[in-house]
Amino acid sequence: MSILAIDQGTTGTRSVLYDSGGNIIADSYREISQIYPQEGWVEHDPVEIWKTVVDTVAELKAAFPGEVTAVGIANQRETAIVWDKTTGSPICNAIVWQCRRTNDLCSRYAAEAEMITEKTGLPLDPYFSATKIRWILEHCPVDNPENLLFGTVDSWLLWNLTGGKVHATDYTNASRTLLYNIREKKWDDDLLEVFGMPRSLLPEVKNPMDDFGTVESISELRGVPIRAVAGDQQSALFGQCCFTQGKVKNTYGTGCFMVMNTGDRFIRSKNGLLTTLAIDAAGKPCYALEGSVFIGGAVMQWLRDEMGLIEHAAESEAIAKEAASSAGVYIVPAFTGLGAPHWHADAKGSIVGLTRGANKNHIVRAALESIAYQSYDVFLAMVADSGVLPESLIVDGGAVENSLLMQFQADMLGVAVHKPHNTESTSLGAAFLAGLRSGVWGSADELQSLRHLQCSYEPEMDEERRGECLEGWNRAVRQTLAG
Ligand code: G3P
Repeated sequence: MSILAIDQGTTGTRSVLYDSGGNIIADSYREISQIYPQEGWVEHDPVEIWKTVVDTVAELKAAFPGEVTAVGIANQRETAIVWDKTTGSPICNAIVWQCRRTNDLCSRYAAEAEMITEKTGLPLDPYFSATKIRWILEHCPVDNPENLLFGTVDSWLLWNLTGGKVHATDYTNASRTLLYNIREKKWDDDLLEVFGMPRSLLPEVKNPMDDFGTVESISELRGVPIRAVAGDQQSALFGQCCFTQGKVKNTYGTGCFMVMNTGDRFIRSKNGLLTTLAIDAAGKPCYALEGSVFIGGAVMQWLRDEMGLIEHAAESEAIAKEAASSAGVYIVPAFTGLGAPHWHADAKGSIVGLTRGANKNHIVRAALESIAYQSYDVFLAMVADSGVLPESLIVDGGAVENSLLMQFQADMLGVAVHKPHNTESTSLGAAFLAGLRSGVWGSADELQSLRHLQCSYEPEMDEERRGECLEGWNRAVRQTLAG
């Protein structure tokens, strides 16, 4: 037996087969094209996304022909796709979560902003799906609007996997649309009216652990039940076994996504965080606070591709270690504005504290440290909003292989940083959910026993030095924001 987890992310699709011990049997990955039709616009081709799922599944099944018990899906959130249910064809490209084309459109709804946040936990922002759908409806007219269906990527994949039989999503994905009332757990009539959204467009909302039909369209999986759907960050939170209030995970990818389980507490952030739905130990909705850092690992790509200071992200650790400290150099990588908790859409990046002795090693070290500082700022906002000081931060994503970064993160936070053995928490979460629903595992406690720590980083820096570092960072942010 095995569980197939499909992790459809912003940069690509990874399909992973897990055994009943929660171990990876095999995985397969395909990148997807990033389409930038104009400055600030980001699109994906939904047909290409689907094809990467078909291809990765075929590759896995060729390598491992054994029986698959169930399928679980985790996906990039907010990205909006509208398709015609009679032809199954998208009416335009997917508008990706990063796309800012609806910035101006948002101002149309400014008078309703408070009501929107009160019901959804989200600010009125182009990041979320509603204005993207509105844009599609206004710019891609069709002959028969009543044939249209909307979905985030999970719904699109479900529709295709089931041969057009199931139009559904789960509440973690729904909670990112600006149309879903996360207090009452339903599509909200007032929100649908504000955004002029026909109800017929919307998918049925299910629990992340539920019955989502069976695979019909991929011969290697025909008849296999789909038993889980979750937004990727919530899936990672579940994969990290953050089932209870106060548990926090941070994913270090291109950006960083930090999510804290707040149990049954809907906390309206006073510090620039989002309130969203996550998944408790029973697979039921619970609340979470979330903060995202726009430029995390991407600062390493910048050092490599634009600055030519490193050849591979992996060598950044060795180069940074050549310097004992950043020698007062700070990089604030506000390349696309600054996200939580600052929210300055127009901020531009900066390097401050340069002296005659500053060299490449200091710059690389400052770039790495900027990832930890920005995550620290989000962590601080979470502590302030929740009143809970977590005893540790659980981490995943590519950059957690950088032990200098992880140690510096623990030093700045003042709490331990735990790195699990399997850092593919997103796919693991989808597999856990699908496996729980299928009876492969009996309880969340059992899942906990399958998770193993690879290592922990304890805070080591003395308080005085830590205070100096943070003071320098805060000064650098202030200078950056002052322009
Ligand atoms: O909210 C966007 C997020 O779900 C994207 O995650 O890992 O695909 O970049 P990722």
